[in-house]
Amino acid sequence: MKRARSRGPAVSAPGELPPGFPLGSTGRIHPAIGLGLWNLGRWTPPEEAKLKPVISAALAADVPWLDTAEVYGGGRSEQLLGDALAMLDPGRTRPFLSSKLSYEHLRASQVRPSLLGTLRRLGLPSIDLYLIHFPNPKVPLAETLEPLAALREEGRIGAIGVSNFSLEELEAANAALGDRGVVANQVPYNLLEREEGEPVAAYCRAHRIVLEAYSPLARGLLAGRYLRSAPRAGDPRSGRGLFERSRWPESQRRARALQALAEEAKLPLAAIALHWLISRGAAPLVGAGSIEQLTATMEAARQRPAKGVLERADRIARGDAD
Ligand SMILES: NC(=O)c1ccc[n+]([C@@H]2O[C@H](COP(=O)([O-])OP(=O)(O)OC[C@H]3O[C@@H](n4cnc5c(N)ncnc54)[C@H](OP(=O)(O)O)[C@@H]3O)[C@@H](O)[C@H]2O)c1
Repeated sequence: MKRARSRGPAVSAPGELPPGFPLGSTGRIHPAIGLGLWNLGRWTPPEEAKLKPVISAALAADVPWLDTAEVYGGGRSEQLLGDALAMLDPGRTRPFLSSKLSYEHLRASQVRPSLLGTLRRLGLPSIDLYLIHFPNPKVPLAETLEPLAALREEGRIGAIGVSNFSLEELEAANAALGDRGVVANQVPYNLLEREEGEPVAAYCRAHRIVLEAYSPLARGLLAGRYLRSAPRAGDPRSGRGLFERSRWPESQRRARALQALAEEAKLPLAAIALHWLISRGAAPLVGAGSIEQLTATMEAARQRPAKGVLERADRIARGDAD
C-alpha cells in the first residue's frame, strides 16, 4: 500500500451523529443510523437475556432509530422492545421506530392483524415506519398496499416502506402507492457487499426514498473482527455470504487492507464503513451483540472520515490497488 503523499486531515472532530434523511413527503426526518433487533436470529432464553440490556442501553443513549420485525424471534424482538419502551421516562422522546410485515402475511386479510399484533407487542398506538419485509411473487402488490395505505390514512402507520425489493419491485411499489409513495427500501449494503444496494441507490435518491443499509458492518468483519480467523463452525454467519468458503480469503484480505487504512487514518474501521454508506445517501442499520459493541459503533458514527479516506476505502473494498 502506498502511504507517502499528504492527504489532508483524516477525520473531522468527534461530534454529533450525522443528520438524517427526509422521510419522503412526510416532513419527518429519518435518522442517519439505527440499531436493528434481529440479533442474528438468536432467540434462546440466554441470547434474549443478553439482548435486553442492549435495548435498554440504546434507549438510554438516545440511539435515534430502532428496527424490528414481526418474524424476529416470532414476535419476541418486538415484545422485548415494547417492554423496554414501557420503562422509558414518559417525558423522554422515544426513538424513530420501524417494523416489518412478514412476507407470509401479505394477503389483504392478514395485513391489519399483523400490524395490530406488532403494535400490541410494542405497546404503541402507531408506528413511524412499516415495511414489507420481503416481496412475495405469489401475492399481487396491490393486495398488500391497499390495506397498508388504509392503515396509514388511519394514522396507525406513519409511512410505508419495503425491504429486499429489487429496482423493478421498488418501481412497481412506488407507482402503485401514488403520490405519497414508498419512503424506504431496506437492503443489505456495505463496503464489501454492494449487489443489492447499488442497483437501487440512484432510484432511491431520485425519488426521495431512504435507502436503509442492513449488515453495514458485514456482521462484524467491518468492525475489525475476524481479521485473523474465520467465524467458528456453528456461528450464524459461518459459511454464508462473505464468509462462504470460496469468498472468505478475498473478504478477509480486503477487510485487512481496510483495517490498515483505518489505522493510518487513526479511525475505527467502523467509522469508515458507516460513513462510506452515509456519504452514498444510505442509512446504516447496525446490529450489536453487547453494550460494548453498541457503544463502539455509536462512537464510530460520530467520527466522520475525510472524503479522501472514504474514496480510498471504496477502491480497496472493490479490490483495486490503493
Ligand atoms: N430486512 C431484512 O431482511 C434484514 C436482514 C438482516 C438484518 N436486518 C436488520 O439489520 C440489522 C443489522 O443487521 P446485522 O446484524 O447483519 O448488522 P451488522 O452491524 O453488519 O452486524 C452486527 C453484528 O456484528 C458484530 N459486531 C457489531 N459490532 C461489533 C464490534 N464493535 N466488534 C465486534 N463485533 C461487532 C456482532 O456480532 P455478535 O452479536 O455475534 O457479537 C453484531 O451482532 C438487524 O438487526 C435487522 O434489524 C434486516
